[in-house]
Amino acid sequence: MMTGNLIIKNASELVTCSGFSAKKGMEMSELGIIADGAVVIEQGKISHAGGTAAVMAELKRSGRDLSPFETIDAAGKAVLPGFVDSHTHLVFGGDRAEEYSWRLKGESYMGILQRGGGILSTVRATRRASREELTASGVKRLDSMLFFGVTTVEGKSGYGLDRETEIKQLEVMAELNRRHPLEVVPTFMGAHAVLPEYKGREDDYLDFLLAEVVPEVATRGLAEFCDVFCEQNVFSVAQSRRLLTKAMESGLKPKLHADEIVRLGGAELAAEIGAVSADHLLHASDEGLRAMAAAGVVATLLPTTAFSLREPYARGRFMIDAGGAVALATDFNPGSCFSESIPLVAALAALYMSLTPEEIVTALTINAAAALDRAALIGSLDPGKQGDVVILENPSYRFIPYHLGVSTVEKVIKKGVLVFDKFRKGECRC
Ligand code: NIG
Ligand code: FE
Repeated sequence: MMTGNLIIKNASELVTCSGFSAKKGMEMSELGIIADGAVVIEQGKISHAGGTAAVMAELKRSGRDLSPFETIDAAGKAVLPGFVDSHTHLVFGGDRAEEYSWRLKGESYMGILQRGGGILSTVRATRRASREELTASGVKRLDSMLFFGVTTVEGKSGYGLDRETEIKQLEVMAELNRRHPLEVVPTFMGAHAVLPEYKGREDDYLDFLLAEVVPEVATRGLAEFCDVFCEQNVFSVAQSRRLLTKAMESGLKPKLHADEIVRLGGAELAAEIGAVSADHLLHASDEGLRAMAAAGVVATLLPTTAFSLREPYARGRFMIDAGGAVALATDFNPGSCFSESIPLVAALAALYMSLTPEEIVTALTINAAAALDRAALIGSLDPGKQGDVVILENPSYRFIPYHLGVSTVEKVIKKGVLVFDKFRKGECRC
């Protein structure tokens, strides 16, 4: 099936998530469900979504030649937009399995970083890794994400902290986009950690990034966003403001790792500069979260990171009740969260953030698309959008958080092409 022309019909629930911008507060409960639904994808784009009888009658009435179309009968299955994982660090060398065992014995994540491990250890491994090695491991990771129903993923640089390796990471993401059906949205995160030689001279490091890396990243179109680890002992609020403001002048859209380990004021900064998203927010203040909601900044929550760090969960319920737009993502990376599991994200969001199944679906689809400034293109089953779809093996979206830690995804369709099928192993996986 390679044409990008596809009819999916008889779905027990067509969960459209209909919308073209982030859903806030109570809107997050609206999934736009159509019982016995159908979706038609023509040349990679959705042309119809509605009740099966009505859609099939409309196709007939229009006199279209249906011979190029494949058909999938989704009886007894829920059909949703492909999931969007809007926060990952997926291109890196090496692993931190040994560090994980230190953390299990009680060492802190930031303590390991302070003595040259953590992110800095992955920086050393990523500098050593060849493009081919990074691409090969990237393909494997994308395959695994596809299995969980992810059709678009964000990926950050930040394991180079020098010009060459930061650019290498972003070029590998471009190569992954050529080689793999899952789409990678690249983010420049040169301000991910401070090298020992820049300790106490963080502003000099930012000067270097702004003079020698950001212009190349922007002019070559290697990244769409600029992110910063706004954190105690990493980059201050003032430094993050300076970097992101300058990066915006170069055309990169702002994102932040905000209030992850301590309450520094990252949420407030995100609202002030109009960031597209602020992520983590474990320790964000009430005022910061309210300001973000008012400014329309998407709050991207990463429950598997809180789980893996044994930190308290971000206050998702409070954010939605305050009228905010919440997205959920995995934060897949070798250190704080070595997991690309969407089902685990969904389960933890339900159990420990008190999000409802409806809010979780919104947070993994249209709101995650908004966190990547792509809500007009993906994240819902609206005509005109890209034909990115998941078919569950169960009749309802409610199984997503309910089946704890287990993927309910049976088929994945990217731009109208079947790219993963759980029951035809080896055939369609890339
Ligand atoms: O989102 N906090 C900073 N960055 C990542 C972790 C990266 C790493 O540990 O390699 C995060 O938690
Ligand atoms: Fe992260």
